[in-house]
Amino acid sequence: MRIYDIITKKRYGAQLSGEEIDFVINGYMRGDIADYQISSLLMAICINSMSESETNHLTKAMLNSGDTVDLSSLGDLSVDKHSTGGVGDKTTLIVAPIVASCGGRVAKMSGRGLGFTGGTIDKLEAIDGFKTVLDQKEFLAQAKDVGAVVIAQSGNLVPADKKLYALRDVTATVESIPLIASSIMSKKLASGAKSIVLDVKVGRGAFMKTEDDAKKLALAMIKIGRSFDRGVTALITNMDIPLGYCVGNSLEIYEAISVLKGQGEKRLTTVALELSASMLSMALKIDIEEATKMAQESISSGRALEKLQQMIYAQGGRLDIINNQDSLLGDKHTYEYRATGDGYIASVNAERVGTCSMLLGAGRVKKEDKINHRAGLFFKKSYGDYVKRGDTIATLYANDISLFYGAAKMLDEAILISEEKPSDNILIYDIIK
Ligand code: URA
Repeated sequence: MRIYDIITKKRYGAQLSGEEIDFVINGYMRGDIADYQISSLLMAICINSMSESETNHLTKAMLNSGDTVDLSSLGDLSVDKHSTGGVGDKTTLIVAPIVASCGGRVAKMSGRGLGFTGGTIDKLEAIDGFKTVLDQKEFLAQAKDVGAVVIAQSGNLVPADKKLYALRDVTATVESIPLIASSIMSKKLASGAKSIVLDVKVGRGAFMKTEDDAKKLALAMIKIGRSFDRGVTALITNMDIPLGYCVGNSLEIYEAISVLKGQGEKRLTTVALELSASMLSMALKIDIEEATKMAQESISSGRALEKLQQMIYAQGGRLDIINNQDSLLGDKHTYEYRATGDGYIASVNAERVGTCSMLLGAGRVKKEDKINHRAGLFFKKSYGDYVKRGDTIATLYANDISLFYGAAKMLDEAILISEEKPSDNILIYDIIK
């Protein structure tokens, strides 16, 4: 077999066999196939796509490139959740305690933020003392005892994806549905949960800019999951505007606690409850109405908040943040971003808000960058609200006042004030099983 022939075959749009896909992934991991050859193949895949069986095979080949986590001791109760990424998306911090407090088991590996999108591990590290690295034994023990554990993805989980993703990132080959689906699902399958709920984001702050593409990606991932005997449900949710009022790591922990106290912003609370209900429905094998009721009661009874405390305690974090939530608010310097006229907030561009948060120090431009866990934005008004000139729209936090200028300019581009009341923004487009 020769990589040259495989590239040629894909260039003509033909289907690759399982053996050919194994040859590519194994050869690339061994160093027998060069980056420039894989780049060429990736571009051919971007242009000519892959069939369902090619996508499944690619997922399997990537999955087999490294370690996998064995969660079989948790039986059918183990359930994972994955968001395709967004701005202000702190749902894992809400969903994991809700599901665990209702009897599900969430043993989850998460990532860090890059560019305008945030990552759960950065948010958790905003809690003083919180350990995001545990060994397998500790990880499993906490999954059994507490029911919720979230750690950083281990070094050797799907190394083929790490290598391929780094290459895709610099060769304009990220935006391909089979490549994204196999990349995400190989990591989810390696993480070991029996069921998976996918939150596929659509809009200006997401990879998928149209509902149609988001659905295609969701379906591709569901099919992969099925072929590996995992239950998969996908929610297609809006990421045109940020989710919730807070963007930035410690601020998002603040907001997650508010939701678990029953005082959360409506859209964020709704998405978190829908995700939790889908997870509980699969893990406990109950219908969605019963699962929704359970999730709601876990908040109103305080059980979900208690579960978050147990999780933070088990991972070494400071517990006083629950009762002293304000200690999570902000940095040395604040800046009030104010309305320049009267009217309705008719647009809050999620991507630009994410970039604004990054400019304040909450996110990374490059993987190696250090972040400031306390930087970010706290919106006081959001999409559809009426504001008067001079009203604060958002409070910005940073450790250096010189950062506010660029951040405020970015917000000028993100926010549109209009005389006309905007129509309601769809929150959940679809739920696909
Ligand atoms: N997230 C991933 O993990 N992989 C992709 O290819 C795109 C988004």
